[in-house]
Amino acid sequence: MDMEPNFLFIFLIILLQTISNTIVSAQSIFPAILILGDSAVDAGNNNFIAPIASPNRADHPPYGRDFPNHKPTDLLADTIGLKESVPPFLDPRLSDKELTTGVSFGSAGSGFDDLTSLPTGAIPMSKQVGHLRKYIARIERIVGERNAKEIIRKAIVLINSGTNDFVISYYDLPSRRLQYNMTGYQDFVLRRLQSFVEEIHELGCRRIVVAGLPPIGCLPIQITTRFKIPTERKCLEDQNSDATSYNQKLKKLLPHVQASLPGTRILYADVYTPIMDLVTNPKDNGFKVTDRGCCGTGYLETGSLCNVLTPTCKNASEFIFWDSAHPTEAVYQYVHDYLLEELGPQLVPDPKFSDS
Ligand SMILES: *[C@@H]1O[C@H](CO)[C@@H](O)[C@H](O)[C@H]1NC(C)=O
Ligand SMILES: *[C@@H]1O[C@H](CO)[C@@H](O)[C@H](O)[C@H]1NC(C)=O
Repeated sequence: MDMEPNFLFIFLIILLQTISNTIVSAQSIFPAILILGDSAVDAGNNNFIAPIASPNRADHPPYGRDFPNHKPTDLLADTIGLKESVPPFLDPRLSDKELTTGVSFGSAGSGFDDLTSLPTGAIPMSKQVGHLRKYIARIERIVGERNAKEIIRKAIVLINSGTNDFVISYYDLPSRRLQYNMTGYQDFVLRRLQSFVEEIHELGCRRIVVAGLPPIGCLPIQITTRFKIPTERKCLEDQNSDATSYNQKLKKLLPHVQASLPGTRILYADVYTPIMDLVTNPKDNGFKVTDRGCCGTGYLETGSLCNVLTPTCKNASEFIFWDSAHPTEAVYQYVHDYLLEELGPQLVPDPKFSDS
């Protein structure tokens, strides 16, 4: 596969960032953005399935306090000139235009492993495929079958999942640890990932970006599980090393998956490196606190435990983590910029492969 930088795309990004009304040309390259995954990309689907007190809703203050864009995916949608935010598919009020330019199927607390979603009631990846199928049927009714096919074929599809599988089903609850060793569980998750990509290919998706794992051992909640006193908190090297070896396997797997699915471009998105860079050298980028979140004590609170009554830090931009499990907006921006530089040139399929 030819991975030469596509200068048209770089040019386009520069153009888009300076002249915002060249949106039309961008839309013809990526007519839609489709997002599947977990909380890093959940635009609010859980608010439509979960009871108010559910632990994995984040539609209450202080979530969204100083974030005009909540998610890296919104930042990307904005960069490619599509829209300012990617709405949740389960929102019943979406307009035809919002639907045809793309939605998020993401659900906080979900994973490739169906077991992962059980404790939280999230929508597992297996079920998100079903939602994608319903979505396609809906846009077929709006623009016709032929146009719908074209939209799906050209849409940029982002997959971000897996973190919860390791955090929930392996490290923090023993469910899968009793059954698999780390190598075995990594391979299990990767098999699920591969079938997932095959299923969405079957539905017509052709431009797919798959994110790897972040440095899981640096999530404040994971550090907390080791019961260190506050001055001794540091990233868990074993969990980071598990994430790194998983990412290496994923990176090796994707070209094989791509080769087995005709007309497809599948890219690996490295989110580990930029986040680890920030944790290792926070000061270079204006950060001060790396080992706890901005919300509450920062050691434990996430979801409903970080709520309107929880005190928060003054300036979230100085924190890598917003709560004990999720980065701040400033980090999302950094990761977005990093990925754009890494992947931007490869996002548009080679004309030779004009995936017809
Ligand atoms: C993990 O389990 C597999 C079999 O399930 C075994 O072949 C392998 O040696 C084990 N790896 C380690 C590091 O224990
Ligand atoms: C918050 O922190 C960021 C990053 O260190 C800094 O650029 C900004 O000026 C701070 N804002 C306030 C209001 O102190």
